Amino acid sequence: MRMVDIIHKKRDGGELTKEEIHFFIEEYTKGKIPDYQVSALLMAIYFRGMTADETAMLTMAMVNSGDTIDLSGIHGHKVDKHSTGGVGDKTSLIVAPLVASVGVPVAKMSGRGLGHTGGTIDKLESIAGFQVEMSKEEFIANVNQYKIAIAGQTGNLAPADKKLYALRDVTATVDSIPLIASSIMSKKIASGADSIVLDVKTGSGAFMKTLEDSEALAKEMVRIGKKLGRNTVAIISDMNQPLGFEVGNANEIKEVIRVLRGENVEDLKTLSLELAVQMVLLAGRYPYYETAKMELEKNLINGEAYQCFKQFIRAQHGNTEMVDHIEKLPDSKYHIEVKAEQNGYIAAIDAEAVGIAAMYLGAGRTTKEDQIDHSVGVTLKKKVGDEVTVGDTIAILHSNQENPFESVQKLREAYGYSKEQPLTRPLIYNVIK
Ligand code: URA
Repeated sequence: MRMVDIIHKKRDGGELTKEEIHFFIEEYTKGKIPDYQVSALLMAIYFRGMTADETAMLTMAMVNSGDTIDLSGIHGHKVDKHSTGGVGDKTSLIVAPLVASVGVPVAKMSGRGLGHTGGTIDKLESIAGFQVEMSKEEFIANVNQYKIAIAGQTGNLAPADKKLYALRDVTATVDSIPLIASSIMSKKIASGADSIVLDVKTGSGAFMKTLEDSEALAKEMVRIGKKLGRNTVAIISDMNQPLGFEVGNANEIKEVIRVLRGENVEDLKTLSLELAVQMVLLAGRYPYYETAKMELEKNLINGEAYQCFKQFIRAQHGNTEMVDHIEKLPDSKYHIEVKAEQNGYIAAIDAEAVGIAAMYLGAGRTTKEDQIDHSVGVTLKKKVGDEVTVGDTIAILHSNQENPFESVQKLREAYGYSKEQPLTRPLIYNVIK
């Protein structure tokens, strides 16, 4: 088989066979096909697209390019959750103990963040002593005993995706739906879950800016999941402003704990509940949506979900004093108030700009080697639709620099104002099954 023939076929709009897809993935992973030929194929896929069968075969070829995690030692139906990424998105940390609190096992592999703020693991490491490195046996034992464990990603999962993603990044071929869908699903399938719930973000702060594109991506991922034997559901949720009020690391953990103690941070709680409902339904824990929602909501109010979170932190050697007393979590030296510059309503908050403001403070990484400062971040005091007058505090920067000029500037740019109250957008646009 020759790579040039595969490129030729796709360039002319042909459908690749399983053998052709496996050939290019296997040989590229081994370093036997040069980047320039794979770049050409990626561009042909970008313009010509892929059929549902081709996309599923590409996903499976990428799964088979590396290790897969065997979760068969865990009792019960394992449901994983994945978000396409958003600013202030800490839903995993609410959803995981909430789902565990009704007896559905959560075995989660999470990554560190490269971007505006930390990933789930970085946020958890705001809690002193918290350990993410554990043996496979310990991970499985923890899930069986406490119904929840979150570990750092180990093993060589979908190495073909890692190589392809890096190449797509520099060849303007990232935003192709079959390529994104197969990239995300290959990692989820290699992680060993029985079913998958996806949170596909849409809006200015999301990877997919329009509802149409977000729905197309969600449908493709649901189709791939089902084709490969994983029941998959996707929620399309809004990312036209950050989720919740906190963006950073330790401050996001504080917000998570407040929600788990029953506080109503409306958008964050609503989306977390919806994700949790979809997860427990896929696990077969309850027969009806309404029953699932009622039971999960009950566990937020009666403290069961909070107790599950605390038990999970304790099992992974975190200091639970910091959970009970959130004021003991890392805090920065300075708290700088950013004031409204106009009278009217907050019309928009550019989530990406808020994320960048937090990153400038040290809440995120620009290179893999950067150290995160868990104590810094942004608290939004006003969100879209709130009425403000000049001089009102719209946000607080938690900083270890006395004068974080760039962050203040970025945050000011993030806020848009209007004279009229803006129309409210839905938080959840659609659930695709
Ligand atoms: N996230 C991924 O993992 N892959 C993509 O292609 C895009 C976003």
